[in-house]
Amino acid sequence: MTTTQATKTQEIIDREAAYMTGNYPRYPIAIVRGRGAKMWDAEGKEYLDLFAGFGAGVLGHCHPDLVKAVTDQANLIWHAGNLLYTEPQTHLAEAIFKHGFGGRSFFCHSGADANEAAFKLARLYGKAKPGKIKGKFRYKIVSAINSFHGRSFATMMATGQEKVRHNFEPFLAGFSNVPYNDLEAMKKACDDETIAVIVEPIQGEGGINIPDDAYITGLRKLCDERDMVLIFDEVWTGCGRTGKYFAHQHWDVKPDIMTLAKGVGGGLAVGVMCAGPRVAELYDSRKQGIVAHATTLGGNCVSMAAAAAVFRVIERDNLLAHAAKLGNHAMERVRRFAAKDPRVKAVRGKGLFIGIELNPQAPGAWFKSATEVVNKCLDRGLLINGTQNTVLRLAPSLVVTQAEMDQGLDLLERTIRGE
Ligand SMILES: Cc1ncc(COP(=O)(O)O)c(C=O)c1O
Repeated sequence: MTTTQATKTQEIIDREAAYMTGNYPRYPIAIVRGRGAKMWDAEGKEYLDLFAGFGAGVLGHCHPDLVKAVTDQANLIWHAGNLLYTEPQTHLAEAIFKHGFGGRSFFCHSGADANEAAFKLARLYGKAKPGKIKGKFRYKIVSAINSFHGRSFATMMATGQEKVRHNFEPFLAGFSNVPYNDLEAMKKACDDETIAVIVEPIQGEGGINIPDDAYITGLRKLCDERDMVLIFDEVWTGCGRTGKYFAHQHWDVKPDIMTLAKGVGGGLAVGVMCAGPRVAELYDSRKQGIVAHATTLGGNCVSMAAAAAVFRVIERDNLLAHAAKLGNHAMERVRRFAAKDPRVKAVRGKGLFIGIELNPQAPGAWFKSATEVVNKCLDRGLLINGTQNTVLRLAPSLVVTQAEMDQGLDLLERTIRGE
């Protein structure tokens, strides 16, 4: 049976329950159609989408340029396999090189995939540059508490949240997590067997946490001094979300490896591991004589065509400036609200990556957690998200208009006030 717009929500929910693993806790809503920042469910109810599918719909739903890029490519060829050259991969790699730090790209399918590729490359670097302890290779990777790097075996170890590892012992060795934005803790955790540090330039799942300037520059210095690989996980923050192509550009610091997913495919499954030439060459089969890493569908023509179009549209339509300006507008507005209403404790963010920390203890707070506010907004046709119990997250597409943002914030403010 095919799903059509006439299919009703309950039928979809029932089939999901019968045939799928049920790993995702879901709202009882079945989305069948989208356009820009709007989505419609199976009954035709309209939603204003200020979360864009965990930020992945970076150009909104059904952006005409993405639809055209995907359709044109689908009519040429979908998949040829990585024994052959295909042009769409080169277009995306060139865009990431040009807008990023001059790194070389490996393509895969998700953030976890991209971080796995980064960790394996870092370990190759540890073999190539063994460090101080004779006869031992450097292999350890240090990350931050409250980070999120994925749910595969290595990335769940790097993820600084115990809950994602729960029940998956025995664990992979060589990972540790230290407090975010604490350079001294990071320095202490890096020993003679450490090969890499991975951090999100702004923590996403951790609650939209923005580090001090000295943290990011200090990490670069630390990695330079100890010849370690600095990995910036830009899965959330990449591709214009924070008002720069990549969030580390706010600090003018270059990583050795950057990983991307979510927004880079505009909603299709694309992961990218982008490495500076010094480390990238360790994956180069022409130089090394072996295939150290690969994935069958990585660089799939249709996904690459979409991702290359994402960068073309961001540049053509000046969406970085739009994200920065609209993000400032939204944050200033919520800060004005917070100045008068103690139910909002703090507002954090850059560009269109915005966290609103609620205070469930404040007088008049009808909610105990962000989830209750999110659910109420959803009933009223606004899709936002909650994380870390009390933080609301807004991560709309970069094409959202100021009118749509204000419409969403009007509704959110009313909801927080319990109106
Ligand atoms: C910063 C970061 N890195 C990696 C991942 C994992 O990405 P994926 O879900 O595509 O595997 C996530 C997912 O939320 C993330 O937020």
